[in-house]
Amino acid sequence: MKLLVINGPNLNMLGVREPGIYGSGTYDDLCALIRDKCEAEGIDVEFYQSNHEGDLVDRIQAAFGNTDGIVINPGAYTHTSVALLDALKAVRIPAVEVHISDVDAREEFRQISYVALAAVKTIKGRGFQGYLDAVDVLKSL
Ligand code: DQA
Repeated sequence: MKLLVINGPNLNMLGVREPGIYGSGTYDDLCALIRDKCEAEGIDVEFYQSNHEGDLVDRIQAAFGNTDGIVINPGAYTHTSVALLDALKAVRIPAVEVHISDVDAREEFRQISYVALAAVKTIKGRGFQGYLDAVDVLKSL
């Protein structure tokens, strides 16, 4: 099984960025956590992070035909990007949307997700654990 973990804008700043909301773990810590789980379970995993919407679209398109599942935290593009929604729909790869924070308990604009319309599941407010849960969801499909 081959998984792709995509993180959108500002998630490279984990550990520095609003630690009261996102915790003190870094982006590298997050990748290591997911890599360890995937290694233990024999899952091939690749990571991609970008602050640029078009680059995220390109990476989703590049997964077409060679990836079994996508774990995606689109960051702020969650709430604005029809392009990411369309890319996920285009490639038809099962995707689980993850948010570290509980977006439902925050500002109203964070409660809209375009990406959710293409996701098999959305996991919110479970910190880094949400990414591991997403791997389990994709594995179970
Ligand atoms: C986030 C929530 C988004 O609203 C925010 O813009 C992010 C991170 C989360 O993981 O909780 O960048 O996706």
